[in-house]
Amino acid sequence: MSEMLEKARKYEDEQGKQIKAEDRPAFHVSPYVGWMNDPNGFSYYQGEYHLFYQYNPYDTHWDSMHWGHVVSKDLLHWEYLPAALAPDEDYDKIGCFSGSAIELDDGRQLLMYTAVDHETLEDGSKRDIQTQAVAVGDGRDYVKYEKNPVLTEKDLPEGASKVDFRDPKIWKEKDGYFYCVIGSRPADGSGQILLYRSANGFDWEFVSILAENKKRFGKMWECPDFFELDGKHILLTSPQDMLPEGLEYHTGNGTLCIIGEMDKDTYTLKEQFNQSVDYGIDFYAMQTVEAPDGRRIMIGWMQNWDTLAHRCNDSKWFAQMSLPRELSVKNGRLYQTPIKELDALRKNRVEYNDVVIDNDTITLDRVEGRTIDMELVIRPEDKENVYKKFALRFAQNEKFHTELSFRPYESVLKIDRKFSGTERALVHQRRCQVNGDANELKLRVILDRFSAEVFINDGEQVMSVVMFTEQEANGISFFADGAAKIDVVKYDLV
Ligand code: FRU
Repeated sequence: MSEMLEKARKYEDEQGKQIKAEDRPAFHVSPYVGWMNDPNGFSYYQGEYHLFYQYNPYDTHWDSMHWGHVVSKDLLHWEYLPAALAPDEDYDKIGCFSGSAIELDDGRQLLMYTAVDHETLEDGSKRDIQTQAVAVGDGRDYVKYEKNPVLTEKDLPEGASKVDFRDPKIWKEKDGYFYCVIGSRPADGSGQILLYRSANGFDWEFVSILAENKKRFGKMWECPDFFELDGKHILLTSPQDMLPEGLEYHTGNGTLCIIGEMDKDTYTLKEQFNQSVDYGIDFYAMQTVEAPDGRRIMIGWMQNWDTLAHRCNDSKWFAQMSLPRELSVKNGRLYQTPIKELDALRKNRVEYNDVVIDNDTITLDRVEGRTIDMELVIRPEDKENVYKKFALRFAQNEKFHTELSFRPYESVLKIDRKFSGTERALVHQRRCQVNGDANELKLRVILDRFSAEVFINDGEQVMSVVMFTEQEANGISFFADGAAKIDVVKYDLV
């Protein structure tokens, strides 16, 4: 083991255990200590889910990318393992950037990641060079391959940049080959996804340009993932520098799902539908795993580069992953539902039916808390005279609240966390165009101390936000302008 990795492991071991469990999310992954960004190497290996993450143990902001490591049997109770990778080689000294993991034919686990190095230009200035590297291990300790990097500038199609060539996502295809998709920047400055193939995981060859951005969705496409689901081919990616499009795509770092069909002769994706993956404020760089039972499960970084200053910097950890979500495709749309494992955490069921709220704000006995799972159905009391606005407030006390509000005439759902304790003037609201009519809106709201994830109409859309509201603010209230009728089922998540 390199000195650098040993130092990181020693440091996190000393510091990580000092962070009290109750100061972290209860079932969302947070870094053992320090900073975390993208999920990496989300995989199932030797009876456990493995999740790695972009990790700087030494501080709560981005620097010196290591890979942190956690394992779990149920995707909710995570055990911290020692850091898996440190930027300790000449070819990755600027960082071990995002990547993925898979089991090799001989039973070892392969990590494939982006190795970042510097090159000095003639004028003395420096720029990043990104290549792909691999490491092999037993689920705990990993050794970098002596012939790294395995994909370099010479493996790029014409015009593609060696500065932006990152985030390999690997899988094994039925033809016996390993494939991977990698984000790349073509000569036009926008993004594209490259497809590579390997018989053994170490020797790779270029196959095709799987998909091209042509500047439609932002510029560089980061963190691609590609898989088959419900008879379609799905490309997930996180574009940088997006321009907004209605309420579908917001400004800045966004998320994109392209649903289509793969042309098997040209290895290109024929797009049929596109959409955002998450309509909230804090979500990026999602990655999926195929569970042993065939479910496709996605996890994302529950943060976004554009809203980072939202953090309060008095804790020793920063950032968390989203809830793992099961994916499916229906009517040309990507659906997400909380993994079914979450049901086992549901305790203390409280149920209310047909509660009428008529120009009023109400609370319901035993409907409160900050680690909860709540299902809500909202209907007009009188279909001929639909209410104007419905609002749900949570993480609430006299001083704080976060609000979800729905205007049925516009079919717009808005999340607003400006009263969540933030001290920074950033994006604190986002709106989402909800499909369907005004007669019924279904929400499932999951709170885990520092976050809220809202699954809309059985997972047709999702909005995720983090909140740093003091935990004492645990109230929930319901408001209607006009007359609305609601059903509520609420559980504590224990
Ligand atoms: C996305 C990203 C990746 C990169 C990593 C570096 O959030 O920019 O493209 O590999 O973060 O930490």
